[in-house]
Amino acid sequence: MARSRSSSSSTTWRYINPAYYLKRPKRLALLFIAFVSVSFVFWDRQTLVREHEEELWKLKEEVLQLQNQLEELKHDDIPVHKTNLTTMNIDDLPIDPIEIQRREKVKDAMIHAWTSYEKYAWGHDELQSKPLKAVFFGQPQSKNGVDSFGGLGATLIDSLDTLYIMGLHEQFQKAREWVVTSLDFNKNYDASVFETTIRVVGGLLSAYDLSGDNVFLEKAKDIADRLLPAWDTPSGIPYNIINLVNGNAHNPGWTGGDSILADSGTEQLEFIALSQRTGDPKYQQKVFVENVIRELNKTFPADGLLPIYINPHKGTTSYSTITFGAMGDSFYEYLLKVWIQGNKTAAVKHYREMWETSMKGLLSLVRRTEPSSFAYISEKIGSSLIDKMDELACFAPGMIALGSSGYGPGESSKFLSLAEELAWTCYNFYQSTPTKLAGENYFFHSGQDMTVGTSWNILRPETVESLFYLWRLTGNKTYQDWGWNIFQAFEKNSRVEAGYVGLKDVSTLIVNTGVKDNMMQSFFLAETLKYLYLLFSPPSLISLDEWVFNTEAHPLRIVSRVAPGEGSKQHKATNIRVRARREGRFGKA
Ligand SMILES: *[C@@H]1O[C@H](CO)[C@@H](O)[C@H](O)[C@H]1NC(C)=O
Ligand SMILES: *[C@@H]1O[C@H](CO)[C@@H](O)[C@H](O)[C@H]1NC(C)=O
Ligand SMILES: *[C@@H]1O[C@H](CO)[C@@H](O)[C@H](O)[C@H]1NC(C)=O
Ligand SMILES: *[C@@H]1O[C@H](CO)[C@@H](O)[C@H](O)[C@H]1NC(C)=O
Repeated sequence: MARSRSSSSSTTWRYINPAYYLKRPKRLALLFIAFVSVSFVFWDRQTLVREHEEELWKLKEEVLQLQNQLEELKHDDIPVHKTNLTTMNIDDLPIDPIEIQRREKVKDAMIHAWTSYEKYAWGHDELQSKPLKAVFFGQPQSKNGVDSFGGLGATLIDSLDTLYIMGLHEQFQKAREWVVTSLDFNKNYDASVFETTIRVVGGLLSAYDLSGDNVFLEKAKDIADRLLPAWDTPSGIPYNIINLVNGNAHNPGWTGGDSILADSGTEQLEFIALSQRTGDPKYQQKVFVENVIRELNKTFPADGLLPIYINPHKGTTSYSTITFGAMGDSFYEYLLKVWIQGNKTAAVKHYREMWETSMKGLLSLVRRTEPSSFAYISEKIGSSLIDKMDELACFAPGMIALGSSGYGPGESSKFLSLAEELAWTCYNFYQSTPTKLAGENYFFHSGQDMTVGTSWNILRPETVESLFYLWRLTGNKTYQDWGWNIFQAFEKNSRVEAGYVGLKDVSTLIVNTGVKDNMMQSFFLAETLKYLYLLFSPPSLISLDEWVFNTEAHPLRIVSRVAPGEGSKQHKATNIRVRARREGRFGKA
């Protein structure tokens, strides 16, 4: 895409146009130095020298960052290449007949979920199937749409890339038409910055990266612009809730005014991608998403583990739980994935370093059950470990596997083994219940291995996500079989006449299946079904060498980022990868 740079028409005007100086950081610095010198005449020198030294130092940093951004923008290939549907036609690729059968079943499930959404909840955020009368299995259901995210068509946007990848072109086109004609972000609604970013910004960007259709990019910009004021806090740690019309931002009442770690540190992939695709640096800029990581890095502990509550005024963490589950999880995920998104160059190496620090912390949380020695990731508060793990934390085996190849050979296989062990535990979260579906979280008591805590299942994807990565990275078909078993349990328990619903209790069987809830979560179509489909597809379909998945399973193209001083047209990517990921233990092609 040609990036238009505003050409200044009047020579006088351009000197007062800030953009002029953004492009000429040296002059900006000169201007500032001139300002400093004049100030000296009027003000007390001693204090000023100190203050100005500090400011100069900050300014130098800013100039450097602006230079970096300019470098990046000059040298990034902004990816608008349309992903060719013909070449993505996976039916041409050789594949095991069992895989084909399984993949088709998953595609059928997507068609069932999508068709139900289309019929009963079109344009709404999610499809709900409410029992008409209290609650016996098999009772008629009333089906309708609910706007759990402010009426942004969450399921529709979350599904765009899944439809595209599965080759459901008619459905994709119809959804695109809705985006063009009916998607309206001008809603007087207090939106979650995190949910809106990962579902809506991520979903639209992924649809753009796959289809090359500008409609999606324009919409992504529109919604992202409405989210930006959330970062306008004293520390740069964003408020987690923002009104989409007036930009008023705040934190939820129940956090006591604090921001949540995962909600504040899970916008980097989407906003960096948006800056790359639009050529407008403001989304990733210092003041926004990249600054959050810099801010958190200032007080980053030696074990790389941060409590889940952060004060947005001071930028410091508050006494609270440390977890790879709810409210912590994707902060750690994005440290790794920003590095991958930037193609592992020197410009993004510091993200990898922070991630490796956090992995040391993760190791300190790993414990094993009795009697069966399942590895799990405990939680921590203060200095006490809590023997609990969320199903949400089951993304971690996939993340660890994905990051393992960046280590030297010894460390690499140690982390890969840990990932495999943890995946086995997560798979057993499913296998250990009568429905064969996992509860929301588990406790580990000595002598009893694992016990379901909160016993609902809301169609979550994390375990199949990890199985997908492990299969891609090791080529071990066992992970496909586990994924298939989980898929069958969803089919058996969660498939209803209109789409899919969660379970209220995975531990109780009524007429052979679990007691249902009434909600088809949008991430079931965005994540659970997509990862399952890819689990039974050739690795070249959304190759991990070209794509990185956001935390809502929306694939974004990898674009090499260039470090300061690396000004060549060729990407001088410092590839610190030790061996190709595809050369995992079993060398699956
Ligand atoms: C897609 O790829 C096929 C096969 O390589 C080619 O014939 C076709 O022209 C391509 N289509 C587009 C739109 O680039
Ligand atoms: C974190 O701080 C260390 C020095 O304290 C620095 O070397 C590193 O680059 C920083 N990382 C980020 C992401 O800013
Ligand atoms: C495949 O993975 C399973 C589960 O981790 C493991 O038990 C099995 O040994 C692996 N197969 C091979 C061939 O390594
Ligand atoms: C990433 O960098 C490697 C070189 O280290 C290069 O071969 C590859 O094409 C780059 N990938 C992308 C998507 O730019």
